[in-house]
Amino acid sequence: MNTVTIKFLAFSAILMTATISVVMSLDIEIFEDTTNTLTIFGIVIPLSINMLTMAGAIAIAVITSMVTGKYIHQMKTDTATGKLAEESWDGIGEYKNELPSGWAYTFLGLFIWSMWYGFIGYPINAYSQIGEYNEEVLAYNKKFEHKHKNADEETLKKMGESIFSVQCSQCHGEKGDGLSGRAEDFTQKSTESILKIINEGQNALHSFPGGMPGGMASGQDAEDIAKYVASGFKGTEPPMYAVCGGCHGANGEGVEMVGPRINGFDMKNTLAKGKKGLIGEMPAFNTLITPIQEKALTVYIQSLSN
Ligand code: HEC
Ligand code: HEC
Repeated sequence: MNTVTIKFLAFSAILMTATISVVMSLDIEIFEDTTNTLTIFGIVIPLSINMLTMAGAIAIAVITSMVTGKYIHQMKTDTATGKLAEESWDGIGEYKNELPSGWAYTFLGLFIWSMWYGFIGYPINAYSQIGEYNEEVLAYNKKFEHKHKNADEETLKKMGESIFSVQCSQCHGEKGDGLSGRAEDFTQKSTESILKIINEGQNALHSFPGGMPGGMASGQDAEDIAKYVASGFKGTEPPMYAVCGGCHGANGEGVEMVGPRINGFDMKNTLAKGKKGLIGEMPAFNTLITPIQEKALTVYIQSLSN
């Protein structure tokens, strides 16, 4: 043992004494609680959890001190041996050491193993719980779609209502009234909101960049169109609706990739991509709703405004 190690041991002794006195002053029993004992060569050692903890702490302090002391001592006294490389960087030299073979073999082995694991060993096609779950959902959906392929209006409406109350009502309201403007109100289409879209355009359905531009109809024409669209395309068609028909279809049924359905509510694009609203965005439901469920929701939602 060298002087540095002794100094460090002395330091840890002070540390331990301080710790023990603090623990004692907190009225934590270290030696008194002797419910269990251990007898070695006739010596009875009390075993309490506090004592074990204390012994562990002492061991850690002593080992840390000794190791630190050893290395500080070594840093002070050790001299390096070996051949220096010729280069020197601002006076800092480098020894000509062989690459340790253990290090090299480990590196090579790890490299080969990682290639094997990455390309062959990783269990891509093996069993997984999520995979099993997904397969079960797919199988169930298929059965569900088959069973309700020819469901009648009444069944679809009931189905739509129950899906709506679970997945949609938290934003659209239990009655589909949109909770005072938080989400689309399915109980009525307002002429004003359609007039507003005609005047200002809309960019909420993740359609092509920029959405629909405003101002394609104005004045009395715009008002007539708005009223006609809000009524669900009832009555005589205003002549200027032709402007809209190119993108939204002659009866407002929507044109794939061009314009959404405006006769009633647009379920298809909204479920597939979501829609930005005043208070936030409706998330996309693209993988969560099956085609029959979508049909059921459409029947239910359109029934709310009739
Ligand atoms: C997180 C809230 C939220 C949930 C959940 C939600 N929506 Fe929406 N929904 C909105 C918002 C916001 C709008 C846009 C309202 C607006 O235009 O101001 C909207 C709009 C719509 C529209 C109008 C599309 C159009 O432009 O005509 C439909 C249809 C719709 N939602 C159907 C559904 C259905 C069906 C469900 C359940 C499967 C659902 N929503 C769940 C928030 C939600
Ligand atoms: C150039 C094609 C085009 C023309 C013409 C057009 N629209 Fe649109 N319209 C769109 C697109 C695209 C959207 C979806 C915009 C978005 O991303 O929110 C849209 C959205 C709408 C919406 C909102 C639908 C919803 O579910 O949120 C209404 C209402 C509407 N248009 C009415 C009209 C009327 C009325 C006219 C005629 C004056 C008209 N549009 C002309 C392309 C068009």
